[in-house]
Amino acid sequence: MSKILVVYDSLTGNTARAAELIAEGAKSVKGVKVELRKVDAVSVKEVSEANAVILGCPTHGFTASEKMKALLNKPEIREALKGKTGAIFASCRLTPRALKWLEKTLESLNFKLIGKLGVRGSPKGEKENMFKNLGKQVAEQIKSERA
Ligand SMILES: Cc1cc2nc3c(=O)[nH]c(=O)nc-3n(C[C@H](O)[C@H](O)[C@H](O)COP(=O)(O)O)c2cc1C
Repeated sequence: MSKILVVYDSLTGNTARAAELIAEGAKSVKGVKVELRKVDAVSVKEVSEANAVILGCPTHGFTASEKMKALLNKPEIREALKGKTGAIFASCRLTPRALKWLEKTLESLNFKLIGKLGVRGSPKGEKENMFKNLGKQVAEQIKSERA
């Protein structure tokens, strides 16, 4: 069984909703187990054991939220993320600049980025499907890697 870990930060629920949609999409792929974790509740072990990690947060002050930055600045988490497969997502009011910080940070860890997705506020309409698809894409990718 392949495991996907969705790690998110959310102050007012918008990014949390995106995370749920991603998890839903990933779960639609058979043979994939999905765990949703808040950024301050994730363990190094969970990150290490996951076949893929999908990370998302709100945009705060033109960058990623402090809690997400704090997580990705922990040496043991960085070590656990090295060379992993996954995706990133972010919510914003205007521009999802958090994606830039996430992408740059993960790039330095040799992270294999399958996709990235931003949203203004909470995902609605077609955006809901786009978030589900992002989860599905990551799930299909890790399944094919293990086949
Ligand atoms: C302290 C703070 C700073 C923010 N800074 C930005 C910003 O620089 N750019 C932007 O587009 N939105 C900004 N926003 C808006 C949030 O990114 C947006 O409301 C997002 O949907 C919140 O996600 P959440 O519900 O998961 O917390 C900020 C919100 C807060 C509370």
